[in-house]
Amino acid sequence: MKPIRVGLLGLGVVGSGVWTVLAQNGGEIARRAGRRIEVAAVAVRNVAKARALVGADVRVVTDGMALAHDPDIDIVVELMGGDTLARECMLAAIANGKHIVTANKALLALHGNEIFAAAQRRGVMVAFEAAVAGGIPIIKAIREGLTANRIQWVAGIINGTTNFILSEMRQRGLPFETVLAEAQQLGYAEADPTFDIEGVDAAHKLTLLASLAFGVPVQFDKATTEGISHLASEDIVHAERLGYRIKLLGITRHRPEGIELRVHPTLIPADCLLANVEGAMNAVLVRGDAVGLSMYYGQGAGSLPTASAVVADLVDVARLQAADPEHRVPHLAFQPESVVDIPILPMSEVRSSYYLRLRVDDRPGVLADLARILSQSQISVGSMFQQPHGEHQADIIFLTHEAREGDVDTALQAMQALSFVRSGVTRLRVESLN
Ligand code: NDP
Ligand code: HSE
Repeated sequence: MKPIRVGLLGLGVVGSGVWTVLAQNGGEIARRAGRRIEVAAVAVRNVAKARALVGADVRVVTDGMALAHDPDIDIVVELMGGDTLARECMLAAIANGKHIVTANKALLALHGNEIFAAAQRRGVMVAFEAAVAGGIPIIKAIREGLTANRIQWVAGIINGTTNFILSEMRQRGLPFETVLAEAQQLGYAEADPTFDIEGVDAAHKLTLLASLAFGVPVQFDKATTEGISHLASEDIVHAERLGYRIKLLGITRHRPEGIELRVHPTLIPADCLLANVEGAMNAVLVRGDAVGLSMYYGQGAGSLPTASAVVADLVDVARLQAADPEHRVPHLAFQPESVVDIPILPMSEVRSSYYLRLRVDDRPGVLADLARILSQSQISVGSMFQQPHGEHQADIIFLTHEAREGDVDTALQAMQALSFVRSGVTRLRVESLN
């Protein structure tokens, strides 16, 4: 059979990994796909650098759009990143009847509805396994393996950079900036690393997971996003003392009133599996009504692990290309006409337990005033401890039972106004994940 012809947009960390995997495992991959997968052309900025990798036989261009219009190319693999040129190239390739494989979660989180609709109209596939949790086949798991289930919630460590930073800070006591630089060097971080550390990258991925899990449109603008840059090392220490670890989690939960869609540092029990996912590893926990809990673990970033997912998509496309477009697995797991607009809940309606830390003057009545405010806001305290700070101050830490976020906001405002409260109140969510 004729080889399938690929146009690679980008030959950076992931693109070069795809090149390497196809070169290394081409024979095995052809046995599985039923035909050879051949890179016909690549688009990059630096031609000489690309040429050094791909040799003389592959066309190297600087205009990505040329590949989108090239009749000799069957599949466009978009690994440039960004949401402007990548979007234009992708839409042009779709209009020209080409299938798409991409790792670009930012683009899909922002423009997924437009891209999937265009692909649906044109009868082409848009495969994006690498866009969520790198090498872990989580999209295939949710879209196909768990398709019998009503998914209840998904919670995951879906950003390798921040998990690497949190692990190194906790285990080796290294400062934030040093570890971030290391993650950048290792190729985990996004072109703009604030996407990683402010939780935006994780929110891009979570947005896609929520659509796959619940059959709702892609709605990144409704996600609540809080990163790790404001996290104090003392909170990591206090959390440990209380039997928890802090992880940047993406959580999406189906509740009767709507869907929670949130990324934030979260205290989770130190003895649960997710708490022990360290370094750049990712893990996603899914709760379905039939299957119960299942967990997916692996490398969430890096050249070859991400390429593993990209090439798996290439094989899927090669296998399914001849299938009737109406009978392929739907892009977002649910048939397009069955996608429903369940509301994404505002953060004030989210329910969680909380870790609250306040620095206060250490004098009589302080605890009573704080307890009164919590009680007036319908917040029940699970446990508390006090850590002296100097001679006249103390840190007070509360762990609350489950409460409504809006009530916690009200309580924090009232606490903040008290004369004996000496710093901003730290609020972190706590999840038991059971
Ligand atoms: P890199 O920055 O390493 O590579 C980007 C590639 O795109 C480079 O080859 C670059 O060319 C090329 N490129 C960029 N802009 C243009 C342009 N205007 N015209 C032509 N070529 C261009 O990115 P990554 O490989 O890290 O990431 C690629 C995508 O994969 C992103 O969407 C990212 O979010 C996603 N991703 C990345 C992961 C990772 O671990 N790194 C994991 C999962 C997803 P040149 O080489 O000449 O500069
Ligand atoms: N910057 C991302 C991460 C790459 O650190 O997880 C993988 O999507």
